[in-house]
Amino acid sequence: MVKIRQIVVGGVAVVAAGLFAVTLAQAADVSGAKSKGIGPTVKIHRGEQCVEPTEDMRRNHMKYILHQRDKTMHQGIRTAKHSFKNCVDCHADPKTNSVQGQDGFCSSCHEYASVKIDCFSCHTDKRDKNAVAVAPFKGTAAKGAPP
Ligand code: HEC
Ligand code: HEC
Ligand code: HEC
Repeated sequence: MVKIRQIVVGGVAVVAAGLFAVTLAQAADVSGAKSKGIGPTVKIHRGEQCVEPTEDMRRNHMKYILHQRDKTMHQGIRTAKHSFKNCVDCHADPKTNSVQGQDGFCSSCHEYASVKIDCFSCHTDKRDKNAVAVAPFKGTAAKGAPP
């Protein structure tokens, strides 16, 4: 199942004012719709839900991964929940196997919002092709299921 959702934003002025994340909260879920050029199109290929509620992820995903990195690196705490690898495994496009590039989950949204991240100079943007369900979250792809 592929969910295609277009993020509708209020306008360039709002983005410039730095309210993009707030505006994203009003994103419309228009499954199957093609982008009309008024916002990035986000495709969800895998799983029923994210590691945190979607609204929260829209606004705060960067905090989770950045915090997680700090915790992992400095305190030796490691949990699968906000693991970077899991983000990529769930969100990679089945065609390119990547979250980057054209229509890539992370890049399509960031390009629209003019966000640059350097994570992929070290971390892979590709799904592990042996990746299976990212337990222990509900609604993840079943083992062996097509992406
Ligand atoms: C188990 C699979 C899975 C994992 C792991 C996962 N996500 Fe998600 N993510 C989803 C699904 C499914 C949705 C859409 C949920 C919905 O339809 O409400 C989503 C939604 C999102 C959204 C909001 C997209 C939108 O529609 O605006 C962002 C941002 C996001 N994820 C980032 C991340 C990041 C960053 C990580 C790693 C910390 C991550 N995700 C891990 C499955 C996953
Ligand atoms: C729904 C749109 C959307 C999606 C999808 C998305 N991002 Fe973001 N991301 C943003 C926005 C908007 C910002 C800037 C927010 C801000 O500056 O407050 C951002 C910022 C970030 C930052 C912080 C950049 C910085 O310099 O502070 C990181 C890291 C990040 N995203 C990682 C990811 C990763 C990894 C994925 C894919 C798994 C992803 N994002 C998917 C919209 C998105
Ligand atoms: C200079 C190389 C480098 C860059 C750039 C980098 N990382 Fe990392 N990151 C690492 C290394 C090394 C580790 C430790 C890997 C390990 O212990 O398995 C790590 C670990 C992590 C972890 C915890 C382990 C995991 O897989 O979940 C997260 C989350 C993470 N990084 C997120 C990010 C994000 C988000 C960015 C971009 C804002 C980023 N990293 C940029 C090198 C880098």
